[in-house]
Amino acid sequence: MRTCHTVKELRAALKAERLKDKSIVFVPTMGNLHDGHMSLIRRAKNEGDVIVASIFVNPMQFGVSEDIERYPRTLVEDQALLLENGCHYLFAPDALEMYPDGKRSQTQIEVSGLSDILCGASRPGHFVGVATVVTKLFNIVQPDFAIFGNKDYQQLKVIEDMVRDLSSNVEVIGIDTARNSDGLAMSSRNGYLTEEERNIAPTMYKTLLWAKEQLIANRASHEDIREQAQQKLEAVGFRRDYFEIRAQDNLQTPSEEEKSLVILAAAHLGSARLIDNLRVELA
Ligand code: PAF
Repeated sequence: MRTCHTVKELRAALKAERLKDKSIVFVPTMGNLHDGHMSLIRRAKNEGDVIVASIFVNPMQFGVSEDIERYPRTLVEDQALLLENGCHYLFAPDALEMYPDGKRSQTQIEVSGLSDILCGASRPGHFVGVATVVTKLFNIVQPDFAIFGNKDYQQLKVIEDMVRDLSSNVEVIGIDTARNSDGLAMSSRNGYLTEEERNIAPTMYKTLLWAKEQLIANRASHEDIREQAQQKLEAVGFRRDYFEIRAQDNLQTPSEEEKSLVILAAAHLGSARLIDNLRVELA
């Protein structure tokens, strides 16, 4: 695996691959890689010839009150894991390479309708940061396919809409959330949990499963399910962010007739903010 730190170096390497008629599959990450990321790499291998991963802790998607310095950086371990799993290129730029004039003078991409709800309401500016950096990464890598996890379901929707709206020539593929054996969605942020919090954390997934059951059995209104779910989470120590039932395709509040739903949860546990979701198809 070759690690490129500059846009110029990566572009030259990928140009040579394209000349050999190789298709390019891209897995963007912020590093601190775990088995969830490796499931993206494994899927990438099924989609095309040349696997490119990126590691960039993107300052544009962190709010002023969010501690970007605390985000775990484990480049050497990440490189070993990527190599072991068959990745061909790693793009690992620094902030100056990505934002030569600073993030404030950076042209921004905002996906309207999706950027200021749910996680976007709790983290103002977050999805502008995500959409902008992913656009830049797509322009640098020019992949045929890009793989994202369903755990960040709203992020996936933002990127799908962005690609459609900007007529980008990349196929976005979302893959199932990788979970620990107790159901907790794999996330770099799980590393912020104490041992006690780590034992509590799977309650988020259990609560999503409970809410799914309620919807399927048509036992209660969405409002009641949401409120009871919040209480279940608070009872074990989570602090409230949101617990919502939305339409799967556009994340808006669904009509009573809507069959394709997604239940989305975000809550704080200790110093970590955890998110998870579950899709539901009603008969
Ligand atoms: O999901 C992530 O790790 C990040 O939001 C992404 C897509 C790499 C953009 O910085």
